[in-house]
Amino acid sequence: MDGRRARRSCLAVPGSSAKMIDKARGLAVDQFFLDLEDAVAPLAKAEARDRIVGALNEGGWDGKVRSVRVNALDTEWTYRDVVTVVEGAGAELDTIILPKVSTPDHVRWLDLTLTQIERAMGLEPGRIGIEPQIEDARGLVEIDAIAAAPRVEALIYGPADFMASVNMRSLVVGHQPPGYDVGDAYHYALFRILTAARAAEVQAIDGPYLQIKDVDGLRAVGGRSAALGFDGKWVLHPAQVDAVNELFSPRQEDYDHAENILDAYEWHTSAAGGKRGAAMLGDEMIDEASRKMALVISGKGRAAGM
Ligand code: GLV
Ligand code: MG
Repeated sequence: MDGRRARRSCLAVPGSSAKMIDKARGLAVDQFFLDLEDAVAPLAKAEARDRIVGALNEGGWDGKVRSVRVNALDTEWTYRDVVTVVEGAGAELDTIILPKVSTPDHVRWLDLTLTQIERAMGLEPGRIGIEPQIEDARGLVEIDAIAAAPRVEALIYGPADFMASVNMRSLVVGHQPPGYDVGDAYHYALFRILTAARAAEVQAIDGPYLQIKDVDGLRAVGGRSAALGFDGKWVLHPAQVDAVNELFSPRQEDYDHAENILDAYEWHTSAAGGKRGAAMLGDEMIDEASRKMALVISGKGRAAGM
């Protein structure tokens, strides 16, 4: 299990579509997930499970994080999703996305189920991570315990379901509800998720932007979660990939500045025999807190291949 994988862009791929699965292989995303939940009709779920097992075993995913989204635990499908996919392709799977998580018990159920399948199949214990989606009011209220549950690598915001859960009066994900003119109606949920993720040392991922042709809208909405500190965002269509990779990579000037801070800090502090806590970079005073901020930006840039 690796909680520091690059996840700037995470592509949603319906598990029922052979064509879209094939197309996904060639896209420059950091992560993809083969969906068994909302993108797949109830009668197509069984066939989609088998198609997903085939696609994972076939490979060709070029270092991307390989995930499957199973159905939520309030359906009759979840256990069979997990058993079929992990028994069939567990060695080729990095994480399971569990939607509509409203209590840490949901994550514990999946952790125990995975442990059993790993033992039965001789898979490496604990390697498959879990990414809970926070999609309703209960999930947000329980978020600290969810973030700290076993195998969690990232918390994912599910804005569409979340908006429905709190009766938000907007039908367009990311757009402000008409009548709410005092700020950003999404700020609380986003910042709550981000804080819980950082406290548990896991990643925070923003969900989808549904207006797939509106790349400016995507940039505006995704730019907000990127600025707050989120690690990545879902993409639904090839047209969204470049914008999201760019939004969640540091700007070149920020990356260069961060590397300069790290170099200057190390040079000054070691030149002083470890006795100096602050240093100068041009006119800027840098100290241990500046070093920490610089490490975040430089880490993201290095993960993005800068
Ligand atoms: C994604 O699953 C969402 O509900 O936005
Ligand atoms: Mg959802």
